[in-house]
This record gives sequence, structure tokens and C-alpha cells, in this order.
Amino acid sequence: MKKFYGVLGCPIAHSMSPDMHNDLFSYYGIDAAYHPFHVEKDDLEEAIKGLRAIGAGGFNVTIPHKTAVIPLLDKVDPLALAIGAVNTVVNNQGVLTGYNTDGRGFVKSLAGSLKSLSDKKTLIVGAGGAARAIYFSLAEAGIREIDICNRTAEKAEGLAASCPFPVSTSILGMERAGEQLDQYDLVVQTTSIGMDPDTEQIPFAVRKVKEGSLAVDIIYNPLETRFLREAAALGARIQNGIGMFVYQGALAFEKWTGIFPDTGRMKEKVLKQLG
Ligand code: ATR
Repeated sequence: MKKFYGVLGCPIAHSMSPDMHNDLFSYYGIDAAYHPFHVEKDDLEEAIKGLRAIGAGGFNVTIPHKTAVIPLLDKVDPLALAIGAVNTVVNNQGVLTGYNTDGRGFVKSLAGSLKSLSDKKTLIVGAGGAARAIYFSLAEAGIREIDICNRTAEKAEGLAASCPFPVSTSILGMERAGEQLDQYDLVVQTTSIGMDPDTEQIPFAVRKVKEGSLAVDIIYNPLETRFLREAAALGARIQNGIGMFVYQGALAFEKWTGIFPDTGRMKEKVLKQLG
């Protein structure tokens, strides 16, 4: 019997996940379909009940439901619980288990550019939900020095204090981070700064970068933010947010089907959708 999957969010109309997963189901000959579901905050509990009732194979959860879904599940992976956000749910014979594949997907997306992670001194720009998933997952992956800069220092301090893995973290102001950017092997921009192509905002002036370092912006629309352009101009290698998006989807697909899919194919599909 055909299996059902989907993504719950609000707004959801522009999600690229349905095309990406439906393409994978047909490519691997799996009789399944993935739908976008527009679910308002107040309707989340009913929506989850409905997915249980119809025996959905699993689903993704996106803004604004990633935290609210947690108490509605039967089990939650410890990393997702520490992050406080679930983006992927597996339905195993009526038992719903939640995972966070955003952070681990981000870590996997680095594999082509960074040979080993543990010795890479890292700076995370931002201290919101995305930064939290990335910070914990990089620490889980073995990076021991991860600094954080954020407009609101208290949020960065709160984030550092709650990390369940051993990691050494200094909290920096934005300006200072810009000044000492050449100390870092990996810089990850996780805020929405740079999303608006008209204003082309940047978190801080990029004056110098470490030779051979990697600058990542988790934004994928636009494909290249001013932060990435300026870092590239100074000699950094750069990576946009497509990798994180593709790998969070690949890890979700693997949890549902047991197949780790062709990420090159997924990337092409996403780039086509972005036009
Ligand atoms: P997400 O889940 O996408 O990470 P979020 O949890 O709302 O979103 O976090 C947004 C992040 O972007 C925060 O680090 C926020 O900084 P504050 O903690 O100071 O609010 C940062 N951010 C967003 N807009 C910003 C701006 N214009 N200037 C500086 N930081 C900004």
C-alpha cells in the first residue's frame, strides 16, 4: 500500500521538500507520496492525531511547529531534545519518534570541504534556533572550540550554557567577531541577515579571513549573500545553505526508508526549484 509522508508548517506553500522527496521516492522505486500541509499553530495537535490515524510513514515539521511538536510525540532523540526542536518524525507501527536532522545535516554538508572537524576552530554568527541546532551538532561531532557572536549577548550566553557536549566557547560582540575573523577555520552565518537582496545586509565588516578557511551561510535564497561574497574575495572557501537543506532532507529520507539518497541529485532538484 502507498505510504504517506508530508511536511507540516505555516506558511508551507513554497517548501521545496515535497518535490525533493517525491523525486527520491520515484527514483528509488518506493510507492510513497510526500505532501505539504498548511497547519496553523492551534491545529498542530489535531494534525498529528490525523497523521497517526491514517498511518503516515513519517513527516517533517517546520516553522512554527518544531518545538511545539515535542510533547505530542512518543519518543524524542536526545540531541533533538537538547536542541529543543524536532524537524523529522518517524512513525514505527504507531510509535512516533522525533529527530533533529538540521544540525547533523549541517555537519554532514561540511564533509566535502573539511577533512576532519575536531581541530577546526569555529565561529557561529547568531544564537537563534538554527544556531542552536548547528552549535550542538558541531560539538557532538567533536569540535572543541566554538565561539558565538550575536547582537544580543545574553542569548549567546544562554546557548553556550546549555550545550550538553564538552566545548570551549567565548561570546563575542559582532564588531569584535569581524575584527578577529582570521582566527577561525570555520565561520557559520546563521542569522537572517543577508536574506533581503535589496539591502544586502552583512553581520559585520569582513576585513580578513584565515587562509584556507571555510565560510558558510545557511541562507540559500539568495544563493550568495554579501557575507559569502566578501569572504570569498579575501580568499575563504564558501558554502551556501543548499548543503544543509539537502542533507537534513537526506537524513530524514534515510530514517524513513533506510536508504541514504543521492545528495547530488537532490541538490540539482533544489537548484531547479530556486530557478
Ligand atoms: P532561526 O530559527 O532562523 O535561527 P531565530 O531563532 O529568530 O531564527 O534567531 C534569529 C537570529 O538572527 C538571532 O541570533 C538574532 O539576533 P538576536 O538574538 O540579537 O535577536 C539574529 N538577527 C536577526 N535579525 C538581525 C539583525 N537585523 N541584526 C543582528 N542580528 C539579527
